[in-house]
Amino acid sequence: MTNEVVAEFRNFKKSFGTKVVHKGVSFELHKGECLGLLGGSGQGKSVILRSLIGLEKPDSGQVFVDGEDIVPMNEEQLIEVRKKVAYVFQNGALFDSMSVYENLAYPLRAHTKMTEDEIRDRVISQLAEFGLQGNELLSPADLSGGMQKRVGLARSIIMQPKVVLYDEPTAGLDPYNTIRIQEMILGLKERGVSGIFVTHDMPSAFAVCDRIALLLEGKIQAVGTREQLEAQPDSKLTRFVKGLEV
Ligand SMILES: Nc1ncnc2c1ncn2[C@@H]1O[C@H](COP(=O)(O)OP(=O)(O)OP(=O)(O)O)[C@@H](O)[C@H]1O
Ligand SMILES: [Mg+2]
Repeated sequence: MTNEVVAEFRNFKKSFGTKVVHKGVSFELHKGECLGLLGGSGQGKSVILRSLIGLEKPDSGQVFVDGEDIVPMNEEQLIEVRKKVAYVFQNGALFDSMSVYENLAYPLRAHTKMTEDEIRDRVISQLAEFGLQGNELLSPADLSGGMQKRVGLARSIIMQPKVVLYDEPTAGLDPYNTIRIQEMILGLKERGVSGIFVTHDMPSAFAVCDRIALLLEGKIQAVGTREQLEAQPDSKLTRFVKGLEV
C-alpha cells in the first residue's frame, strides 16, 4: 500500500427530500488499500459507493477518481470512470440467460477491442484465479447463492479496474463462501487494486481491511487501522465495532 490517492470524497453533502443524509463526508482511498466503511443502517454507505461511479450526485462537494472530479461528468465520461471503478452488486447481477463464460465475456466484448482468443484467455484465467474453473458452461440458475456472488465478483473485475466497491459482499453467505470472498479481495489487493468494503460483518472487515472508517450522523467520525482501534478502546469507532454503540 502506498499513499497515492486513487479516490477521494471532499465535503460530500446529500439530502433526500427533507432528510439530510450526508453532512460533509470527506475521506481518501489509497492505492492498494482496502478501506472498510462501517455505519448503522441508513447512514448512507451505499449512496457513497454509488456516487463513486456517478449513479448518484451530491448536492454539493466533490468526488475524485484518479485526480478528476466526476460530479460534473456526463454519462459518456462516466462510462470511462466505470472502467476504472467496479461496483460489485449484492446478488452478483448475472444475466440468467447467459452461461458463466458468456457473463464474464460480455463486458470485454462490449467495451474492448479484444479478440475472442484474448477474451477466452482472460475469462479462463479470471475464473481459475478465483477457484471457479469448470463452471464455464453452467447457467447462473445452476449455481448456489454463494457461487453466484463469487462469479459476480469475478465478472465485476474482468475489466481490471483500479478500484472495486464491495457492498456487503459476504451478507448471508456461509463460512466457506465468506472465506472465499475474503481471499478474492486479498488477491486483488496483492495486485494493487484498491477497495471500499461496506459491511456489517466485522470478522471479514478485519480480515481484508487496512483501515476502517465510521460513517455516522452524516460524517466520517473516525478512520483507523486495527492497531489504532485496539489502542483506543473507548473511541466511537471501537465501540461501534464491538457492538457497544450504534
Ligand atoms: N434514491 C433514494 N431516494 C430516497 N431516499 C434514499 C435514496 N437512496 C437512499 N435514500 C435514503 O438515504 C439513506 C441512506 O441510504 P443508504 O442505502 O446509503 O444506507 P446504508 O448505510 O447503505 O444502509 P444499510 O446498511 O441498511 O445498507 C436512507 O435513509 C435511505 O432511505
Ligand atoms: Mg447499504
